[in-house]
Amino acid sequence: MSKKIRSAILGCGGFAHRHAANLVSLSDEVELIAFCDQNPQNAVTYRETYTNGKAAVFTDHHELIDQVELDLLLIALPPFAHTDEVQLAAEAGINLFIEKPIALTSPQAWSMVKAVESAGVKSQVGFMFRFGEAIEIVKQLLHSGEAGRPGLMTARYFCNALHAPWWREREKSGGQLVEQVIHMIDLMRYLMGEPVSVFSRQENLFHQDVPGYTIEDVSATIYSFANGAMGVVYATNNAIPGKWINDYRLVAEKLTAEFSNANTAQLHFTGADPLLSKSIQSDRNMHLAELLDLIQAIRTGGNTRTPIRDGALSLDMALGAAESAQKRQEVLFSRSESA
Ligand SMILES: NC(=O)c1ccc[n+]([C@@H]2O[C@H](COP(=O)([O-])OP(=O)(O)OC[C@H]3O[C@@H](n4cnc5c(N)ncnc54)[C@H](O)[C@@H]3O)[C@@H](O)[C@H]2O)c1
Repeated sequence: MSKKIRSAILGCGGFAHRHAANLVSLSDEVELIAFCDQNPQNAVTYRETYTNGKAAVFTDHHELIDQVELDLLLIALPPFAHTDEVQLAAEAGINLFIEKPIALTSPQAWSMVKAVESAGVKSQVGFMFRFGEAIEIVKQLLHSGEAGRPGLMTARYFCNALHAPWWREREKSGGQLVEQVIHMIDLMRYLMGEPVSVFSRQENLFHQDVPGYTIEDVSATIYSFANGAMGVVYATNNAIPGKWINDYRLVAEKLTAEFSNANTAQLHFTGADPLLSKSIQSDRNMHLAELLDLIQAIRTGGNTRTPIRDGALSLDMALGAAESAQKRQEVLFSRSESA
């Protein structure tokens, strides 16, 4: 058996628990050897919970990267907290998993892409819905041409929670669309291709009295794609408390896909006579699947499904919507940053 992948987690908050548990479940492949959080207690809690007190703990990622020989750094920092960790880790030859959104500005995101691509390390961005079984099947039907040309995709994201205090502040999270609904935006890019323009409206209608709540809680966004296809993303943070609902529909020339989630969909092959319908249902652990895909890329030298370049491109797509809403006009995408 090949050597275990020496791994660390940077950002030991609420969400990294999911990744830590998945990494522990892969203990034949992966060793969790360090945790880093600016709040030492958080790193210690992870050390106790996941490594029985064995892993090293740090409060500064510079020290972590300098002092520990790592093969993989999993970054689950809040969006505003990204600084030079991707660049330093890439220069040190460390492969990366990074949660979305990878940054809050396009220049910062593209500087991460440059660092990762010039170092030649592997990267995976936490857009786990790409690993849903229903998404995989529809992606393949589009890729093979069986579905015909895509024309329309709609996606909704409904929740109702105050989340962490940083989440409510535009300067720290980028807003609901940039921080959260970016999952839907990334799926749209994945299935529909690159956008050419966006028009978005975003308002805070329900949380004006909540101190520090400066992000939108209702948004409606229209993307257009090169071949004339369209995408509609609608979201709110004032729907059903305790529920995080996201679902999507895609209409192509010969296929209509109605997704209940990334693992579950009803497919209608509209080019067939008589009409053929098929149900897809799966309970695949998408967070585990994205880690396994990264591990395979590290082991084989192959590509991951969602390299950091996709993190920057989907961020640009979300930032374009934020700019459109702020200017109240359509925004055209230029790809100058990625050139
Ligand atoms: N893919 C998904 O489904 C999903 C779900 C939830 C969250 N996320 C993403 O995960 C990331 C983290 O979200 P969260 O909900 O865990 O946030 P959180 O606030 O619960 O945790 C963040 C942790 O980072 C630490 N931290 C902050 N700044 C730091 C710094 N400079 N150095 C070291 N540690 C620092 C905090 O002390 C905290 O422990 C976000 O990017 C979020 O969008 C992804």
